[in-house]
Amino acid sequence: MTTAHDGTHGNTAHQGKALDGIRVLDMTHVQSGPSATQLLAWLGADVIKLEATTGDITRRQLRDLPDVDSLYFTMLNCNKRSITLNTKTERGKELLAELIRRSDVLVENFGPGAVDRMGFTWERVREINPRIVYASVKGFGDGPYTGFKAYEVVAQAMGGAMATTGFEDGPPLATGAQIGDSGTGVHCVAGILAALYQRERTGRGQRVQVAMQHAVLNLCRVKLRDQQRLAHGPLAEYPNENFGDEVPRSGNASGGGQPGWAVRCAPGGPNDYVYVIVQPAGWRPLTELIGRPELAEDPEWATPEARLPRLPKLFRLIEEWSRTLPKWEVLERLNAHHIPCGPVLSTREIVEDASLAANGMVVEVEHPQRGTFTTVGSPLKLSDSPVEIDRSPLLGEHNDEVYGGELGLGDAELRRLRAAGVI
Ligand code: COA
Repeated sequence: MTTAHDGTHGNTAHQGKALDGIRVLDMTHVQSGPSATQLLAWLGADVIKLEATTGDITRRQLRDLPDVDSLYFTMLNCNKRSITLNTKTERGKELLAELIRRSDVLVENFGPGAVDRMGFTWERVREINPRIVYASVKGFGDGPYTGFKAYEVVAQAMGGAMATTGFEDGPPLATGAQIGDSGTGVHCVAGILAALYQRERTGRGQRVQVAMQHAVLNLCRVKLRDQQRLAHGPLAEYPNENFGDEVPRSGNASGGGQPGWAVRCAPGGPNDYVYVIVQPAGWRPLTELIGRPELAEDPEWATPEARLPRLPKLFRLIEEWSRTLPKWEVLERLNAHHIPCGPVLSTREIVEDASLAANGMVVEVEHPQRGTFTTVGSPLKLSDSPVEIDRSPLLGEHNDEVYGGELGLGDAELRRLRAAGVI
């Protein structure tokens, strides 16, 4: 791998990273693809983001500051280099072929067929470089939806998430977790890493395709478990009373084998809730905490089976206690008895959380246009592959470095390419 980065971009070989030597040609935009290549960069790959001369559209979307790369862009494109290239020009296509020849991985998430229309089908790509792993994110797999574009909530709608999120008497809901975009990005990374590993044995690259609908469905696996259980009667752990032939929305029910619910806390603000799980061993201490010790022995309450039909009442009893206390106090008191629980943290509380900062999960990054911005760090902690979060690149910031330094184009040609709008 060439490591001729400027000091602001990490991934240098001497630091030793898991993906040192892996060169990623990153033709992704918006969220799903960029979330995947950002993880690859954090794992040590040299990620070169190739953008049209106008740049990834998110550089300009939802801007908080005029004429400055948006947080949408800066938070999804850290540790990458940026080059511009108009791949619809003849010279642009030649340069793209050269970049493909020099890369280990190509990733894209354009609308269906866009890269083929540039003239780079999988057959052509692997002819140029038989060792390349070529990954694509699309909305859907083969079939009636193949040609359709997709965004986050479209995938949530068609992957089972919306139908199963929300309350029984309300409409389907989108979840705030970007399972359609960033969730698909994580799946895409898994596919790319496996393909790179297989290449070690075969010497051959391969095609990796991940559909957002499929990734969301993979994350909704337990709801398909419940769909099949419905054939044998109502789902006892759901708070719902009526069951048809589809899994109903079940509010804040835990979805697992141990019942849980979000109970209110003081002083009653929008995020003053604690999510509590009632494991069998937690029942006795809970009855004491909530001031109802007699329920530990009461045959109507003493066993998980006896409690199952009275879960709404059970959580109401816990709430009568919890709503008198701040959520942090509830957290402490429940954890003193090893009762699994979690306060609902607002986005502000997360940004200010000392332990998330100490874990490198909420990170401050210097940016030449913005000053400092806050981003979410890498959740992947590898003992031999540390991650330093470096800022996202400016548009075309590494054109000279890549086209000049690495592809060997002279200054005069670079000037010509710029003047002709090729880069
Ligand atoms: N030089 C020249 N043209 C370029 C280029 C470059 N470097 N990079 C991209 N383009 C062109 C493409 O060739 C394509 O043009 P064409 O349609 O004329 O062939 C166009 O830019 C990109 O089209 P598209 O990706 O369809 O953009 P869009 O803004 O209309 O749609 C999405 C956006 C996200 C809906 C669409 O990309 C998509 O469905 N992606 C797959 C699913 C996905 O990842 N969705 C989630 C995004 S978070």
